[in-house]
Amino acid sequence: MAKIFIGVAWPYSNGVIHIGGVAGCYLPPDIFARFQRMKGNEVLMVSGSDMHGTPTTIKADEEGVTPVDLANKYHELNWKSLQKLGSSYSLFLSTEDPTHKEVARDMFKKLYEKGHIYEKKMVLPFCEECGKYLPDRYVEGTCPHCGYDAARGDNCDECGKLLDPEDLIDPRCLNCGETPVMKERTHLFFRLSAFERPLWEYLKDKEFWRTPVIKATEAWLEGGLRDRPVSRDIDWGIDIPIEGHEDKKIYVWFEAFMGYFTMSVEWAKRQGEPDKWKEYWQDPDVRHYYFLGKDNVLFHTIFWPAVLLAHGDLNLPYNVPANQFMRIEGEKFSKSRGISLSLDDLLDKFPVDSLRYYLTVNMPEIRDADFGWADFIAKNNGELVATYGNFVHRALSFTAKNYGEIPKPGDLEEVDKKALAKIEEQWKKVGDHLEVCEFKAGIKSLMELARSGNQYMDTKAPWSQIKEDREACGTTLYVCLRIVQALSTMAYPFLPHSSGRLWKMLGNEDTIEEHGWEDALEDVAVGTKLTRPVPLFEKLELELEEEEEEETNMMDIRVAKVLSVEDHPNADKLQVMRIDIGTEERTIVSGLKGHYENEELDGMNIIVLCNLQPAKLRGIESRGMLLAAEDGDVVSLLVDGSGAEPGTRVMGTEDAPILQFEEFKKLRLRIGLGTKKGVQVAPNHFIDLETPEGKLVAMFFSGDDKVFPFKVGDAYVSLDKEVAPGSKIT
Ligand code: MF3
Ligand code: ZN
Repeated sequence: MAKIFIGVAWPYSNGVIHIGGVAGCYLPPDIFARFQRMKGNEVLMVSGSDMHGTPTTIKADEEGVTPVDLANKYHELNWKSLQKLGSSYSLFLSTEDPTHKEVARDMFKKLYEKGHIYEKKMVLPFCEECGKYLPDRYVEGTCPHCGYDAARGDNCDECGKLLDPEDLIDPRCLNCGETPVMKERTHLFFRLSAFERPLWEYLKDKEFWRTPVIKATEAWLEGGLRDRPVSRDIDWGIDIPIEGHEDKKIYVWFEAFMGYFTMSVEWAKRQGEPDKWKEYWQDPDVRHYYFLGKDNVLFHTIFWPAVLLAHGDLNLPYNVPANQFMRIEGEKFSKSRGISLSLDDLLDKFPVDSLRYYLTVNMPEIRDADFGWADFIAKNNGELVATYGNFVHRALSFTAKNYGEIPKPGDLEEVDKKALAKIEEQWKKVGDHLEVCEFKAGIKSLMELARSGNQYMDTKAPWSQIKEDREACGTTLYVCLRIVQALSTMAYPFLPHSSGRLWKMLGNEDTIEEHGWEDALEDVAVGTKLTRPVPLFEKLELELEEEEEEETNMMDIRVAKVLSVEDHPNADKLQVMRIDIGTEERTIVSGLKGHYENEELDGMNIIVLCNLQPAKLRGIESRGMLLAAEDGDVVSLLVDGSGAEPGTRVMGTEDAPILQFEEFKKLRLRIGLGTKKGVQVAPNHFIDLETPEGKLVAMFFSGDDKVFPFKVGDAYVSLDKEVAPGSKIT
């Protein structure tokens, strides 16, 4: 029995996990961990949410919330969806965890004390417009290596190379678009250059690594290693434990990868054996595996190993089986760029093992792969259902119906022996593939066994046999059930949920988790009672279009005419309005004092959310809420300029149940500006949607980042005053 450490890349908590990330780095380690546990090994698998740094602050600005709220929100969401996926982490916390912060700071300090971190002056991009240094993602430009035009100050998402801000061609400030100036500032540097030789040494016996991983690592080493700044001018992150640097934070990457270690420490604590992490990190025989996407390779094959070497007496990565990207029908995934297909939504729509299956047969192990909708449905229906599901269903239901239990075999013929031998043959293949992280080949070898089961059953035709020779038929079914049992065991690492169900359908009282990898070859318990099985997998149909409007359907938004406006008798800042919403007249209370005069409002055609929970405001009940955009001191009403009748609905919204204020607050309503590049919602954030150039539009963002502009008939809802793109609608 061995111990195995598995590190899984920490998902940024600046958005939801997308299906590309699942195929790329979250699913493979789970398959591997389950396999290793089945083999009787002890697995420590840790990860967590990567909360800090510019990925989070930028998104928080976009959503108009604080970084901590944003990070917590996505941490919760992502952890829930990972659990739904079946991810079997030993521990999954976040970089806000107190132990993480403490241990990461200790590590940082130790590196400083050992001289691996030192102070140095550097030139940094400084935006004079914004009066700020521009860390990492706050500066964008063209990548000097691959020419990608939206590379960031710390690395290029396209080619995965690490960058320094001054490497960028045509740099620009993410906030305002201005060209930054270069200004001197003292920062803390990690002495990466000192590890060039040790890293070559480390790489020497890693010839078994995946080719793209070795290539990327060697290419980077060949270019020579430069020391790298590991402190940042940013407010959101972990304080630097070095005097004189209290105004800076640890570079997000530098502390996030320490999370592999900090989580192991926390895990040990929680086991009640605070020193237990040593068994994994200080025993040189324990292999460390790291699962991540290709954009993370260098951080795990160069930067993190160098930190571990600098620290001393901790195990280095044994293998880094990084995956390439999974693109959606050809498009590169990047949640930070607004294209999305969230894990959570997919798990709502499709059975978890159908997704696990498709992502595994299509895993981007060596090359980028495509997530194709038609392909997903075809592989689910044509392989998972038609081959695996169909075989086990035929075998189980025919046996249950005719025998009610697992039948006793008679003499085995050559063909029966061959079928049984096939189990062992495929079992060996699947195991060999899994051992070396070849998941795609592994699941194919598994399916090969299901296919051969179908062929065997067709050849033996038990439905004919039973009419002539009940015992011979029993033998056939016995062999079939041996294959079924093997399939349920061998499929477990890949498809744990359906494996568990299948295991029960075989009449077992215990759970599949109590069984090891070798048990696939075990005999079945003749005489075990069987009941009619339910199909293991279901056929899927594509019904993606309709559901998209769900969230707009929560709102009843209409054009309303203001009939009269008066000051609120009990509140200085409030007004009381009578409005006509088509079906009726209503009273609403608004807070536009100081922004709109009562007379100005009179007769206006405004936009009102009509199904908001009525609320008493200083003694007067408000039944509905007018919509306005807020940009600092400017408040601008959303208005109808098309002359529509009061009561005309904003497109996509309809009669809807009462919406609680809390629910409403969670909905994202924003102002965008039509430009040639699409709708602008933040200085450097454009959404691929055509609206009139130069026009401000009101928009609703659904949970998966789909955008619905507010329209009344053919006309866009307008704004009464100018506000900045990205302004919130309240
Ligand atoms: N948050 C990073 C990403 O999603 C990965 C961090 S991995 C760790 O690309 F090593 F820093 F933990
Ligand atoms: Zn700027």
